Amino acid sequence: MSSIRRKEQFGSCTLILGDSREVLKETRPAAASVMITDPVWPNAPDGMFPGCEKPAQLLRQVLMAGHYVDRVSIVMRYDSDVRFLKSVPAHWPFFRVCCLPYVLPSRIGRTLGGMEMLYSFGTPIKSEKGRHIVPGMGPSVQPNSNERNGHPCPRTMPHMNWVVNWFSDRHEIIIDPFMGSGTTGEACVRHGRAFIGIEIEEKYFDIACRRIEKSLRQTELFVEQKKPREADAGLWLKKELPHRRKKIQQEIGAMP
Ligand SMILES: C[S@@+](CC[C@H](N)C(=O)[O-])C[C@H]1O[C@@H](n2cnc3c(N)ncnc32)[C@H](O)[C@@H]1O
Repeated sequence: MSSIRRKEQFGSCTLILGDSREVLKETRPAAASVMITDPVWPNAPDGMFPGCEKPAQLLRQVLMAGHYVDRVSIVMRYDSDVRFLKSVPAHWPFFRVCCLPYVLPSRIGRTLGGMEMLYSFGTPIKSEKGRHIVPGMGPSVQPNSNERNGHPCPRTMPHMNWVVNWFSDRHEIIIDPFMGSGTTGEACVRHGRAFIGIEIEEKYFDIACRRIEKSLRQTELFVEQKKPREADAGLWLKKELPHRRKKIQQEIGAMP
């Protein structure tokens, strides 16, 4: 039986309802080269995401299933335990951490903060004019600027716009295996990037579908949509995958 419960296509965005651990193994969206995601955090309140009681294990399984991407960027709030990131397989070298601040700091328990952090691993974006130095500070966002959309913890558009801009190149295909209400997807639409989003909960999947469809309607007048280039994907597979498999096999073999 297929792991894909539903699949919707909006322009260059493919939205899949299913469990990423299975979908990524089954479909191997080979042309996807970048993962930008906001996984279930280790400090997510109990019961917020039923079935995700072991977030570190979940992240590990999803990343292993999507081992073929070149770059992984993970967003977490500043009070999420960074030891969670031990789940990131070592074949992606650490690149950098960035701060995604809010205009006004907020208090969480005894700590003052409120910002999100972005951790990036793997090959950085291409070095080209105006994009050689990768900055470390996103835009300051109003604290409650998240439009209520029915998801318990959507990220903000200005932050995700910034992340998509600095952590993917123009022709890359971005995959978000914890899509939620589709903030990464909407940022991809705004930047003219192709996107693959996977979400396990149908109610959040539906929100993402409505949102991306609307955003496409609004932006298609301004942005030339780039379609995934099948020919390139085939070439990439042929050249890269055997090499990548060998590295990953070595790593899996070395794991306890
Ligand atoms: C932190 S939220 C992402 C929120 C998203 N960035 C947004 O702005 O709306 C994590 C999402 O991952 C989903 N999720 C959890 N386990 C999953 C799995 N195995 N496969 C796909 N999605 C999963 C949850 O239902 C939740 O919507």
